[in-house]
Amino acid sequence: DKGNHRHFMGKEIHEQPEVVGRTLSHYVDLAEGRVVLPEALPFDFGKLNRLYITACGTAYYAGLVARYWFEQIARLPVEIDVASEARYREAPLERDGLTLVISQSGETADTLASLRYAKSQGQHTLCVVNVPTSTIARESSVVMPTLAGPEIGVASTKAFACQLTVLLCLAIAAGRARGTLTAERERALIDALITVPGLMAEALKQEGEIEGLAREVARARDVLYLGRGTSYPMALEGALKLKEISYIHAEGYAAGELKHGPIALIDESVPVIVIAPHDGVFEKTVSNMQEVAARGGRIILIGDAKGAAEHGLDTLATLTMPDLDATVAPLVYALPIQLIAYHTAVFMGKDVDQPRNLAKSVTVE
Ligand code: M6R
Repeated sequence: DKGNHRHFMGKEIHEQPEVVGRTLSHYVDLAEGRVVLPEALPFDFGKLNRLYITACGTAYYAGLVARYWFEQIARLPVEIDVASEARYREAPLERDGLTLVISQSGETADTLASLRYAKSQGQHTLCVVNVPTSTIARESSVVMPTLAGPEIGVASTKAFACQLTVLLCLAIAAGRARGTLTAERERALIDALITVPGLMAEALKQEGEIEGLAREVARARDVLYLGRGTSYPMALEGALKLKEISYIHAEGYAAGELKHGPIALIDESVPVIVIAPHDGVFEKTVSNMQEVAARGGRIILIGDAKGAAEHGLDTLATLTMPDLDATVAPLVYALPIQLIAYHTAVFMGKDVDQPRNLAKSVTVE
């Protein structure tokens, strides 16, 4: 049932404040202000040398965001690869280490195969899945559910937001176990997490502006997405979402990679979507925006009021996100990213819920 939405994707984008709130209440003891995992762990985060993450598509990008969180919050080194490579690389995985797999459907063939490979190496396995009865859930030693509810649109939106929510809770739990997180920082992170559903609702208020912007994006042949830090995987996610449902060619890049090649593409016809909350790397991203502006590139900035006041550049549009703790930015910035893809594809008359050549669940490799 699409409710009063035209498409499942639109409905699922708008459900995010609610489903992220539900997922949070499953992982956070609000009275205590602590992460409480729903299941006991058969391994000790404090004793891990390394965390292996594997997934496909959007779930892989959730894993890329989580790499920053596990490394910064828990000082836990992370290795991550797409499951289609991880399953055949024959990487040596240490016995009693941990492999984390992420999947909405829990049936993705490559993700399942890399899970089985990890088990064959003697690893503990933890899955973050949306379908608790799925094969991946059944075969993992620990299941951490995302409570997004059924996701019908082929483009993953609310499952992604819930994956990020669970992964951040896991990183906080790991940080506590490894003694890398002060009680004060943990409290601040929980406070930030608790505000996310409200901030998401704020972000959705930009929809009218995004609808207008989508007409511009729809005219482009190529679109570039740039970001640094956790905004880098968000740039990859933005590009995937746009190409998947609008069929416009899009590429996501680490902003610092711009001058190593993609800058050659930039001219007046290429919208450049820059994802840049006012975080520790904001100034670095501004210097990349200057490089884009100097070549006539049209910048669409997804940022905040503080950044907008500082950068001093002409932009085609600025989508102003609410102020937040930069750690939770991916959760909130996901919404304008999804809405840009959605409205561009709708404006172009594409079938956003069932894009050509794609299946919701990829059960063959
Ligand atoms: O069910 P899974 O999360 O394992 O699916 C992984 C990918 O197939 C999926 O995220 C795909 O990239 C989406 N269509 C992206 O929107």
